[in-house]
Amino acid sequence: MKFGCLSLVFISLFTVSAFAGSSSSPEKDEKSWGSDMQELKHLVEELIPAIFSLSEFERVKNTKEFKDDLEKFSKISHSVKVKAEKSKELPSADPSLRFVSTILEDNAKQAYEAYQIGQKEWARGLVKQSLGHCFACHSTDRFGPQFETEEDPKFLKGLSTLDKADFYIATRNFEEALKLYKESIESVKLAKNLPGEWQRAVRNGLALAVRIKNDPKLAEGFINTAMKKEFSSNPIYDRDLKAWKAGVLAWKTEQKRSIDPAGEKAHFDQVQGLAKNANHRKQFDADRSGEIEYLRLSAAAHEFFKRYPESKYSADILFHLGTAYDSLRGLGGLWMLQDAYWEACIYARPNSKVSWKCYKAYRDSVHKGYSGSRGLDLPIGLAFKLQQLERFAK
Ligand code: HEC
Repeated sequence: MKFGCLSLVFISLFTVSAFAGSSSSPEKDEKSWGSDMQELKHLVEELIPAIFSLSEFERVKNTKEFKDDLEKFSKISHSVKVKAEKSKELPSADPSLRFVSTILEDNAKQAYEAYQIGQKEWARGLVKQSLGHCFACHSTDRFGPQFETEEDPKFLKGLSTLDKADFYIATRNFEEALKLYKESIESVKLAKNLPGEWQRAVRNGLALAVRIKNDPKLAEGFINTAMKKEFSSNPIYDRDLKAWKAGVLAWKTEQKRSIDPAGEKAHFDQVQGLAKNANHRKQFDADRSGEIEYLRLSAAAHEFFKRYPESKYSADILFHLGTAYDSLRGLGGLWMLQDAYWEACIYARPNSKVSWKCYKAYRDSVHKGYSGSRGLDLPIGLAFKLQQLERFAK
């Protein structure tokens, strides 16, 4: 159902002009974007104790400050979305920023509304989820600013290692987050007592190693640790770890041969190649064995948009991004974006072979979100939208 709601979010997201508009003038608008970001950071710092600690939440949930913070969070998320929609104010030509800002805005608005009608615990959950959206945007550009925070500031006191990492990731302190993931991945106690959390640490650590650090050795280190026999009762299947290891080794060999795509076509070929390898590894829907390739593919595709905002390959890149995010769902904030990419792909090159591929992927994804009901129970708005898209796509 959650899935369905999010699909609806995207109903009004695109117009045919999804790719129109100038692609840059970052210097001029950086300040206003940056000040929204600083405010978001400040709000997250204020909200974080209550978001992660139940006793702190019980203490503050009825205060005016907490309510005001939720309201502000919603307002600023809205402001970010408005800026993201005006492509000239975007710090990057990547359409992902529009998609993620829409999800963040929707989440933050729902959180404030839920709070107002007394569903405070629900509101808290939504804000927690929003931290993942920060990373979803920030990790599209590994060259963005990074920060260091003073060691364990007051508001992080008492939080678990992984909750702290969530904060550092959201506020672009990737070094600190990496340290905490490493610590968590090496913790036999965590793997035994909270296997789900341990698994999260492994996958998030890998996401950082690939998306931010572009560092196969770092990824390999995490995988090697997870493969040690003290973790043999871990919930990640052996098969996944072996596949990830193979993926990292292949990546290392490529780096040795120093494949840095020179030129648009070479870069596009690289994305295509990664997609092929990833799809080759993936044997069934929930199969995670292609995760390294999908992460690399998404990083290369975001990079592609940065370098070639007006490319004739945009629709294909969007198709691959959809496929990558479809497979990466469940990973931190990098989830639920697939429909947005496939839809944008249809508009990027209507009535083409690639738009038809995107339409079919989109349609199947929407149906899957409605429990494989083959369209019978689709809300009327969504069924209508599918019809519209089909006409554009064919
Ligand atoms: C729609 C995409 C998007 C979302 C969502 C987003 N950010 Fe950002 N954020 C960016 C971009 C892009 C930059 C880099 C801007 C630049 O290049 O200067 C940035 C920069 C920042 C900075 C550095 C600002 C500075 O002083 O330069 C902070 C802090 C930050 N974000 C915090 C957050 C937090 C916290 C959240 C989540 C509540 C969040 N961001 C959500 C896109 C996003």
